[in-house]
Amino acid sequence: MAGAEIEILLTKAVIDRRVRKLAGKISRDYAGREILIVGVLKGAFIFMADLIRGLSVPCSVDFVRLVSYHDGSVSSGDVRITKDLETPIAGRDVLIVEDIVDTGITLSRLVEVLRERKPASLKVCAFLDKRARRRVPFTADYVGFTIPDGFVVGYGLDYNEKYRFLPDVCLLRDIA
Ligand code: XMP
Ligand code: MG
Repeated sequence: MAGAEIEILLTKAVIDRRVRKLAGKISRDYAGREILIVGVLKGAFIFMADLIRGLSVPCSVDFVRLVSYHDGSVSSGDVRITKDLETPIAGRDVLIVEDIVDTGITLSRLVEVLRERKPASLKVCAFLDKRARRRVPFTADYVGFTIPDGFVVGYGLDYNEKYRFLPDVCLLRDIA
């Protein structure tokens, strides 16, 4: 990790503006309803905290934690819930909040699992989208920013648990 270089991709000001807009759009789309926000730990926690403070509709929150198994750097597609929801979601308007869509494998599997629990509606809000990396078809209903391929950290995203605290989203260069 020595010698890793960091370059700002999205500043805090740019992020704040975009997150406020997203929260406004979500509030309009869910007017008159109450959302159950499902945050995907750990990466989404900062985005989720900012997003819900911009909402003008009531919401409650819950969290899941997932692990995806990788063969080397390639996701095998085996995604497991290691911390499940504490809330029954049948009949609820559920919005999954995730940090980043990469291959699409994690979110498509999570959507599949949660759909079986019969929510009234189920949508996905991803802070970042690396569209060029998709390996399974997946489109998030709300996206903060579409970004090019490259490993990003900050604003909740980590590299080996480091950098989550950075207020900007940064590109990490020179990692293996
Ligand atoms: P898939 O490939 O299933 O995986 O869409 C999405 C998950 O992969 C992680 N991920 C990243 N984490 N910087 C990160 O800190 C990145 O650039 C990055 N790309 C993918 C992330 O945990 C996401 O939930
Ligand atoms: Mg994640």
